[in-house]
Amino acid sequence: MSEIIQAENLKKVFGKKVAVEDLNLNVTSGEIYGFLGPNGAGKTTTIKMLTGILMPTEGSVRILDLDMTTDEIKIKRKIAFVPDEPKMYDNLKGWEFANFLMEIYGLDKEETVKRLDDICKAFEIDFLEKYISDYSHGMRQKLMLAVSLMRKPKVLFLDEPTVGLDARSAKILKLWLRKMADENETTIFMTTHVLEIAEKMCDRIGIIKDGKLIAEGTLEELRKKSGKTTDSLEDLFLELTGGAEFGDIIEQLND
Ligand SMILES: Nc1ncnc2c1ncn2[C@@H]1O[C@H](COP(=O)(O)OP(=O)(O)OP(=O)(O)O)[C@@H](O)[C@H]1O
Ligand SMILES: [Mg+2]
Repeated sequence: MSEIIQAENLKKVFGKKVAVEDLNLNVTSGEIYGFLGPNGAGKTTTIKMLTGILMPTEGSVRILDLDMTTDEIKIKRKIAFVPDEPKMYDNLKGWEFANFLMEIYGLDKEETVKRLDDICKAFEIDFLEKYISDYSHGMRQKLMLAVSLMRKPKVLFLDEPTVGLDARSAKILKLWLRKMADENETTIFMTTHVLEIAEKMCDRIGIIKDGKLIAEGTLEELRKKSGKTTDSLEDLFLELTGGAEFGDIIEQLND
């Protein structure tokens, strides 16, 4: 089995708003897939459907060859999701939250505590004794990352993982994710606005706009499709997502 994430004809409608439409995705084992798109394009909606948080209006999701409608619990045991705004139990201390998850997921305590300890050292997490209610956005994100990585998930979903992180933590995260993909064949699906991250880290990139996938491939393939060889991902992204008028906007600002 090499297809780890499969989405077929996914659609999500909120009231009259079609947030995602006709979306087909296939992500293979050990791949780091970057999901890019402008604000409101449908990235978070997609990642929530792929992780079983939102029910699609139409279409199907298969993760690790299991169907989300019939095997949701089995899937959730094997995947981890770091949302853009992690919601956690505010009245717990960091280590209590980690312990709680170890019990829920039936993890080997000794092994997992050791792994969590290594992760905390790498990300300079020294606040597990504090209540989560006192954490900053970045601290919450780091804790959510740490408890997700400690579970050694087969598939890891990350929504804007570097937004709240300082430069050092973002760099460590990049290295850590690459290592997980290469050594443990962890499949990683991440959304990001940081094009440099997508460019340097992701094996394949999908670009979504107005709920539809408008381009997909390796950076090389995207360049070929656009008929250009020297463009940065930023230029390609702006071109594909309607950034042609970008120069005009800057000009107007300067007027
Ligand atoms: N619960 C909801 N109810 C109504 N509309 C929603 C809901 N969630 C998302 N939307 C709408 O669906 C569209 C896609 O939103 P989504 O959050 O998926 O975008 P995004 O690509 O993650 O954007 P960003 O880059 O800003 O995070 C937007 O128009 C948004 O307003
Ligand atoms: Mg989003």
